[in-house]
Amino acid sequence: MASTKPQKKFRKKILCIGAGYVGGPTMAMIALKCPDYIVTVVDINEDKINSWNSGKLPIFEPGLDEIVRKTRGKNLFFRTDIEQQIRDNDIIFVSVNTPTKTFGSGAGYAADLQFVEKTARLILENSTSPKIVIEKSTLPVKTALAMERILMSGKGRVKFEVLSNPEFMAEGSAIKDLENPDRVLIGSRETAGGIAARRLLVDIYARWVDTGKIITSNIWSSELSKLVANAFLAQRVSSINSISALCEKTDADISEVAKAVGTDSRIGGKFLVAGVGFGGSCFRKDILNLVYLCRFYGLQEVADYWESVVKINEYQQERFIINILGKMFNTLAGKKICVLGFAFKANTGDTRESPAIYITHRLLAECAEVVISDPKALENAAIVMADTTGKLSYEENPYEAVKGCHAIAILTEWSLYKELDYKKIFRAMAKPAFIFDGRNIIDHEKCYKIGFNVYPVGKPALSHFESRV
Ligand code: UDX
Ligand code: ADP
Repeated sequence: MASTKPQKKFRKKILCIGAGYVGGPTMAMIALKCPDYIVTVVDINEDKINSWNSGKLPIFEPGLDEIVRKTRGKNLFFRTDIEQQIRDNDIIFVSVNTPTKTFGSGAGYAADLQFVEKTARLILENSTSPKIVIEKSTLPVKTALAMERILMSGKGRVKFEVLSNPEFMAEGSAIKDLENPDRVLIGSRETAGGIAARRLLVDIYARWVDTGKIITSNIWSSELSKLVANAFLAQRVSSINSISALCEKTDADISEVAKAVGTDSRIGGKFLVAGVGFGGSCFRKDILNLVYLCRFYGLQEVADYWESVVKINEYQQERFIINILGKMFNTLAGKKICVLGFAFKANTGDTRESPAIYITHRLLAECAEVVISDPKALENAAIVMADTTGKLSYEENPYEAVKGCHAIAILTEWSLYKELDYKKIFRAMAKPAFIFDGRNIIDHEKCYKIGFNVYPVGKPALSHFESRV
């Protein structure tokens, strides 16, 4: 375990509460870019902290290991003594989890703020000097107000400034995004204290981010912008997925449509890749949060508009299953299906809200036997599927996983799946062999010629049973 004793005097001390997908990488980047600052990350989960201090980090993120290796034990420390660290640090990022509520009022929509509130109370109880508290977790608009109210309940004993600094990095490209962000957003109160705190945070980011990219705003705009950015991105994915359904009926090709549409500079080509639907910890949660807020403020039409983005996402996953069922002669009972890719996207081991979860459950409900393969997400897959009944197994090696299978469902766009030897795979499978390419990443024509019946998303099927147009 790395030493946790600071070795020398540092110019600034920064604390982050919450060592997850956001807190860990973000603080590692600050530590790398600001070697004269000491950065401490704390978490209630001791196993996670031990893992951050070990040779096997708790999350897989390209480039992260290297940064942690360079900084850990020098100016980056992972610890569990939360209360002591609150006492010792005056700049505190809050990066705890904010899942969707599963109980009570707002269940299924509103964010569960219990972890944020507990953190605010802990900060209040352990503060004897002025603190800047920075919301890093994605939160509903006006959460900063709730935090302020809790922190102010100490009756001015200690002065607090609450800032909002939402993180826009995407998993799989987190290090690249943190190193070279499109923008950094910092929201504060527009009081003298708020502006001063905002300036201090700007100075931290300005160590490596062009100041033209550091946007400041009022605190509510900052909170809302994060939800809206994710809602817009998810909306693009649902838009292209909705059109993929139409392409399958009309023999149009979704890749060609996306290219033709995306080359319009007003539209742009990013986030127009059709697939099995979006996953990840943010999109669904943030949209439902937005929907809840709109309903709370009586904006029913606005709420319905955004909720439809989630509904299309669910429809896309269900459509994928119905297609498998239909093409495989309306029965999957006793058939063996290989799920290639369980992470919600490539280059991460994260399975939160992965479409693969729903699709696997549906395959099992049809009494299929499912083999899950993934290069990085098998541990998380086993955790998330732990309580599932049905014939389910895990095999990292794709060539082993496909043995005796009737069909392959590609659910994550891992580039290794493009390079597989599909002749060898075809030989190992039961016949007729099917591929349902939920990410449109393999060479469909080549696989068809090998003998597979190939069903892409939003493109004409290549089937040996149906005549091709
Ligand atoms: C997202 C936001 O991009 C990021 O700014 C925010 O901070 C957190 O939420 P993330 O969920 O990590 O990041 O990944 P992202 O790349 O946005 O992908 C989300 C989902 O959309 C994935 O399941 C991905 O496969 C899917 N997607 C994305 C598509 O299906 N098609 C696309 O064209 C793009
Ligand atoms: P995100 O993707 O937003 O980073 P994660 O779930 O990966 O979310 O990480 C959030 C982290 O916050 C978890 O490791 C969790 O243990 C930690 N956490 C939650 N509540 C507290 C708390 N009160 N004090 C310290 N850490 C907390």
